[in-house]
Order: sequence, then C-alpha cells, then structure tokens
Amino acid sequence: MGFSMGLNFLLLMAMVATNILSLYHLSSTVQSPKSPKAPPPVPDELLRHLHTIRATINHLQQSSTGGANPATDTASTKPNIPSDLLLYSHISPIASSCHNHPDLLHKYMSYTPFTLCPSDSDLSEALILRGCHPLPRRRCFSRTPQKPTSSLPHNPFPASLPDSNVIWNKYSCKSFDCLNRQNPNLGFDPSREISKFTSYKSELDLPIQQLLQLVKSVKSVLRLGLDIGGGTGGFAARMKLYNVTVVTTTMNLAAPYSEAAALRGLVPLHVPLQQRLPLFDGVVDLVRCGHAVNRWIPLTMMEFLFYDVDRVLRGGGYLWVDHFFSKRIDLENVYAPLIGKLGYKKVKWATANKTDAGGVKNGEVYLTALLQKPMSR
Ligand SMILES: *[C@@H]1O[C@H](CO)[C@@H](O)[C@H](O)[C@H]1NC(C)=O
Ligand SMILES: *[C@@H]1O[C@H](CO)[C@@H](O)[C@H](O)[C@H]1NC(C)=O
Repeated sequence: MGFSMGLNFLLLMAMVATNILSLYHLSSTVQSPKSPKAPPPVPDELLRHLHTIRATINHLQQSSTGGANPATDTASTKPNIPSDLLLYSHISPIASSCHNHPDLLHKYMSYTPFTLCPSDSDLSEALILRGCHPLPRRRCFSRTPQKPTSSLPHNPFPASLPDSNVIWNKYSCKSFDCLNRQNPNLGFDPSREISKFTSYKSELDLPIQQLLQLVKSVKSVLRLGLDIGGGTGGFAARMKLYNVTVVTTTMNLAAPYSEAAALRGLVPLHVPLQQRLPLFDGVVDLVRCGHAVNRWIPLTMMEFLFYDVDRVLRGGGYLWVDHFFSKRIDLENVYAPLIGKLGYKKVKWATANKTDAGGVKNGEVYLTALLQKPMSR
C-alpha cells in the first residue's frame, strides 16, 4: 500500500511538473514578444496531453479515496508519503527545479525553432547547476566553432589542445594557453598531466600501477569506471592507457572542461553533482571521487551521492575517495561514519594534515581511501 501510494505521489508530482511545463508553454506562447497579435490556436498535441493529465489526476483522486485497493481499511486512506521522497524533493526538487527558475528557463526556451540556437551555453550551465537537469530539449542547431581542425589526437595526452575547436566567447580566456597561464593545474595542458596518478609522494597518493596491482591481487578486474567531477578527464586519460574505459562527469565552470575532455578522446558527461548518475545499477568496476567531492557538499546531499555511487558499482567494485578534505573533527565524527555506512571493505585508508590552501590554519585533513563494495547483498 505504502509503495503504491508513493508511486501515485511520484506520478502526481511528475504530472504536476508536466502540467506546469505545459502551462508554461501556453503562457509563453501568449506572452511571446514576437507575436503581439492574437495567440495562435493551442496545438492538438498539447490538448491531448492535458486531457491525459486530467484523466490521470481523476484516476489518482479516485484511488486515493480508497476505491483502488479494497484490501486496506478506511483509516489508512491518507497517502503515506515515503520520508526519503520528502527529503529528496526538499534538497533536489523532483522535476520542479527547472520551474523554480522561470526567468532562466524562459530565457533558455526563447529561441527560434529550426534555426541556429542562441549563444547561451552559460544559461544551460546556470540552469543545470540549479538542479534543472535534464534540461528541456530544444529544436535548434547548436553552434559550432567557426574553423575547427579535423586532425584530432588519438593520444589522450597530446602536446596541446586545438583552440579552434572550442567556442570561447563565454569565457574570459580565449585560448588553452591563457587558461594554462592562469592556472597550470586545471588540466588544460595534457602533456603536463602525464605524471599525474603515477607518482607516490605521500600516503595520500594511490598510483594507478598500485591500484591495478591491488585489484589484481584479489583476482578482480577494472574495465569500466566513472570519475565524478573529473575536470578535463585526466584520470580517464591515464586509465585509457591501461585499456580501462572511464567516463567523466564534468561541468563547464568558467572554462571548457567538457570540450577539453572530448578533444582528448574521452567521454565527458555533463552532469552536476546533485543529480542521479546516468548509469544503470551495478555496471561499473570503479568510481573515483576527486577534489570536487569534499565538505562543501551538504551532508544529506553527500549521503545521496554515496548511495548513488553504491548503486552504479557492481558487487566487488571499488570506490576511490581521492583527497577528500574536511576538518579533522568532521572527518572523525561525520564523514568517516557516513562512508562507513556503506559497509565497504577498507583496502586503503590514509589521512594526513592538509598543508595547502589554508588547511593548517583550519585544522583540515585529507582522506584518500580505496573501498571495496561487498560482492553481494
Ligand atoms: C591495451 O590494448 C592494446 C590493444 O589490444 C594492447 O596492445 C596493449 O598492450 C594494451 N595495454 C595494456 C596496458 O594492457
Ligand atoms: C596535524 O595537525 C595537528 C593539529 O591540527 C597536530 O597536532 C599534528 O601534530 C599534525 N600532524 C602532523 C603529522 O603534522
């Protein structure tokens, strides 16, 4: 009963969202500045859509008054909403996040269908970061760079990336050189990255050779991986040399991270940290959480993130928490217990004082952990 009510509630939420979107489309047709005359007639398709929504709402209303399930007693006719649904819709409103930003969404959907899309990659970024994901589809042609080169590298560590294959107008830098001058550690100079993930300078490091060795020693294997918040795909690049396929979630925060990864021949997934990972259950051998996953993520959100990581990992798969940082006391009291909830085997667990970027003053520590998911639950 609780399940079917939960499902009904979800359906209802989805429909309300669809309804809102439909209304939005209707109202935007009416308000469109380009058509000051009488609004065009409502398309049949939309009317049919609204009809379906009304019919389903009627159906739900009938079933929530006890008609659908005669087995339940009349006292429990109130919908029993699962507490995690309430919690999650609070921290990441289901299907309504787009509607929470009508100004941005209005701008995003104000385009001329069947022509070139507006130059608004910053708008889609802004919407996705606010939880509007997936974005509504549009019927326009995305812009392309004017004179892209077709000689793209097969090597994920090329000497340089071609500037001509990126649309730069939304960024303050207009070349990869400029980005590298601003900060050589952002990952836009692949040749510089060749030593990343290979050296062991402190116990916080886990060189890939060692990672592969650890995995091999328990007769396991790495073939597929996911790098969460992986920037320009440095980890995926390195793993490619070992014939391991890693996809990278990345956002274009003030720089073309997605394009840079793609130019290296690596798959960039344009997904924010707060969204469900676009992978099926139990399909990857390894998930790495890099620098992007640290204490700045609200705790409940992080809990949903780790459980989603668990979902996509296969039994016996590995979670690599790479240079997670927080206050020492929070690691002890909050984050270590949170990670512990997963019930993974600690293959490696190393902490050390964070000595960079004000870490000493704030009593911060780094954690690098390699954890193995149980073979079966
Ligand atoms: C990756 O695969 C290629 C082609 O099958 C093979 O030649 C190469 O030795 C492999 N590399 C590693 C590190 O296994
Ligand atoms: C780490 O920092 C704490 C204080 O925050 C200090 O007591 C401890 O000695 C430091 N450990 C090392 C290895 O530097």
